[in-house]
This record gives sequence, structure tokens and C-alpha cells, in this order.
Amino acid sequence: MSGSVEGKVAVVTGGGSGIGRAACEIFAREGASVVVADIDVAGGEETADLVTKAGGKAIFVNCDVSQAEQVEAMVKAAVVNFGGLHCAFNNAGVEGEYARLADATEENFLLNYRVNMLGVWLCMKYQIRQMLEQGKGGAIVNTASDAGLIGVKNLGQYSAAKHAVIGLTKSAALDYATKQIRVNAVCPGPIRTPMLMRVFEESPKIGEAMIAAQPVKRLGEPSEIADAAVYLCSDHASYITGHALPVDGGYMAT
Ligand SMILES: NC(=O)c1ccc[n+]([C@@H]2O[C@H](COP(=O)([O-])OP(=O)(O)OC[C@H]3O[C@@H](n4cnc5c(N)ncnc54)[C@H](O)[C@@H]3O)[C@@H](O)[C@H]2O)c1
Repeated sequence: MSGSVEGKVAVVTGGGSGIGRAACEIFAREGASVVVADIDVAGGEETADLVTKAGGKAIFVNCDVSQAEQVEAMVKAAVVNFGGLHCAFNNAGVEGEYARLADATEENFLLNYRVNMLGVWLCMKYQIRQMLEQGKGGAIVNTASDAGLIGVKNLGQYSAAKHAVIGLTKSAALDYATKQIRVNAVCPGPIRTPMLMRVFEESPKIGEAMIAAQPVKRLGEPSEIADAAVYLCSDHASYITGHALPVDGGYMAT
């Protein structure tokens, strides 16, 4: 179904694990060349290997999305290695600590701000500059969360950063609508990735409660988010921009 990313060049941040890795595999399967960007060198190289062993095209770029010069270099790597940039999935993220607002640490607030918010802004900034230079538009998808659409008890700093991702997404979509650059967000519910498994290990009770609260009574799989992201990047989604799409087994309908 994803289709229509054939022959395009995509960058995926957080491509070394979870949702990002699944997206790299799906982009490549659908015919895109992929820049796997991550701060985790081993994970990122493993993803690039998985893609190339399956017959796809991928390179790994070591990139901390909170560092402007590294983000700029990531975009350059797409141009130098694959000839341009057409799609971007800005998905790298960190989890919040579980604590009521007055007990949360400034350190975790700043980590959430730097990676989940500033990182998305920096990525879009350099990706959009490149897309404007090419003059043929492009498509960007940012990973927000259900926590970017509603408040979440004990997760204020993460929720705030994910709300910001949606604000940035909608504003960028308006800024560049006439330049044929589409900008959307996916809002995952609880997805079976290393990030969520860390939360479940720390507090099995939170895990049980999360699954019980899901209308579909199961976790999502990374590929279920990645499919939505690749679709939004594809030509099939040519009239969709400025949208924050929940991919959450119905949770936002409750
Ligand atoms: N798993 C879930 O339940 C869930 C739910 C909602 C939203 N999300 C969001 O989905 C995205 C992907 O998460 P995941 O569940 O696949 O987690 P994950 O931990 O499996 O993968 C996240 C990846 O991001 C990378 N990363 C972290 N900081 C980075 C930085 N500064 N620069 C570059 N890369 C960095 C990590 O190294 C890792 O490879 C995140 O934005 C997360 O907030 C996840």
C-alpha cells in the first residue's frame, strides 16, 4: 500500500531501533534510498545492514538531532550519496521520566526539550532548506504521540514536547504549503519497541494498565506506525498536510 516512494531519497532519524528501524525497512522495500540517522552507532549500522542485505539501499549517518551541524551533515549525506532529499521521517525521541510535575527533574525536562522538540525543529529546518533548493517539494513526517494530543498523568515534560511537535508540524505545513512541501505528524499509541519495553520493565503495573486501556487490548507493532509514516511521505497522501494522525488502536476515540 505504501507505494509511490519509489526512486525517492528518505532520511529516518532514530533509524537504529524500534519504529525508525521498521520505517527504514519499509521505505527501502518500497524503493526509496534510505539515510539511517541515529546517535546509536551499533543500532544504526545494524539497520543499514538489514536494509542492504534485503536488497535495499541504505547508509548510516551518526547524528545527534539536537546538534545543528550534525543535522546539516545528515541532510548533506543524503544529497552526496543519493542525489537529493525527498522524504524525511523525524522520529528520534527519548522517553520522559514518570513523575508528577513537582517531582520531575530539570535534567529530564531539558532532555525532552532538546531531543523531542529542538531535534524535530532542527531536522525540519535543514530538510526544508534542501527541499526548497531542489524546488520540487517534498514530504516530512514527525513522530509525535498520543501524548502530544492529550495530557498524560506523570509524563508532563514528554507530553509538552510532543504537543510542541504537533505545533511545529502544523505551522511548517502552513509555511510551505505553496512550495509543495507537505508536513504531517504520526501520533503513536503504545508500541512494542525498546523504549516502551524499558518503561514496562521499570513498572510492569504501568504496562498492564496501558494495555487494559487500549480499545484493541494489545500493543501496536513498530511496522504499524512505520506504514503510516511511509504512506504520509508517499504520493498517495498528496493532499494531506498539517495533519496529526493518531495510530493508536482507537485510543484517541475513547
Ligand atoms: N514506543 C511507543 O510506545 C511510542 C509511543 C508514542 C511515541 N513514540 C515515539 O516514537 C519515536 C520512536 O520511538 P521508539 O519507541 O521506536 O523508541 P526506541 O528507543 O526504540 O528508538 C528511538 C531511537 O532514537 C534514537 N535517539 C535518541 N536520541 C537521539 C538523538 N539525540 N539523536 C538521534 N537519535 C536519537 C535512539 O538511539 C533510538 O535508536 C520517539 O519519538 C517516541 O517518542 C513511541
